[in-house]
Amino acid sequence: MKLFIDTADVAQIREAYSWGIVDGVTTNPTHVMKSGRKPDEVYREILDIVDGPVSLETIATDTPSIVKEGRALAKLHKNVVVKVPVIREGLKAVKELSADGIKTNVTLNFSPLQALLAAKCGATYISPFVGRLDAIGHIGMDLVRQTRTIYDNYGFKTQILTAAVRHPGHVLESALAGADACTMFFDFMKMLYDHPLTDNGLDTFLKDWAKVTGK
Ligand code: E4P
Repeated sequence: MKLFIDTADVAQIREAYSWGIVDGVTTNPTHVMKSGRKPDEVYREILDIVDGPVSLETIATDTPSIVKEGRALAKLHKNVVVKVPVIREGLKAVKELSADGIKTNVTLNFSPLQALLAAKCGATYISPFVGRLDAIGHIGMDLVRQTRTIYDNYGFKTQILTAAVRHPGHVLESALAGADACTMFFDFMKMLYDHPLTDNGLDTFLKDWAKVTGK
């Protein structure tokens, strides 16, 4: 499963990318707003750091404007994936952008039928927002599992990119459900390494070795 970092904070991206486990980046307008920087400047810096898919979101809500924005974003770098909301006008744009050979990430996905439509329009990625579904009393991971079944039933190549992750358990469940990718905040990515038994075990080994060497 590919691991993407979900942020527009270049310091976090640089640090996480240095660990050797980051396959790509997802951004959104909120992340860019939080960075406090100009979108173009942040995008170019991210694209310089990471050699992998970088999702950049369109803001328009009508097909011609989304297509125009998407084409402009795609010109920034070969690794750009154009993020488009799963609305009717958005999916029409995805079909056009896909026909141009531009990679797309269909975002704000909350139902398996939306995921089916995105795949039919040739989306490269579909982003189910699992944490936001959990927050309203649904089981977000069911969306990933149902989409996996639908895509496998019909041989769709659209990749499932679990998004709106709220804890490492979502990452585990994504991998078990056969998601192709999972995007998460820096803090959750750090947590993937952690286990108290690893820390305790290492502590004991180092102390015992010190006894052997007398240092
Ligand atoms: C994914 O591509 C989105 O950027 C992200 O996961 C949004 O989730 P959140 O704002 O609910 O955390």
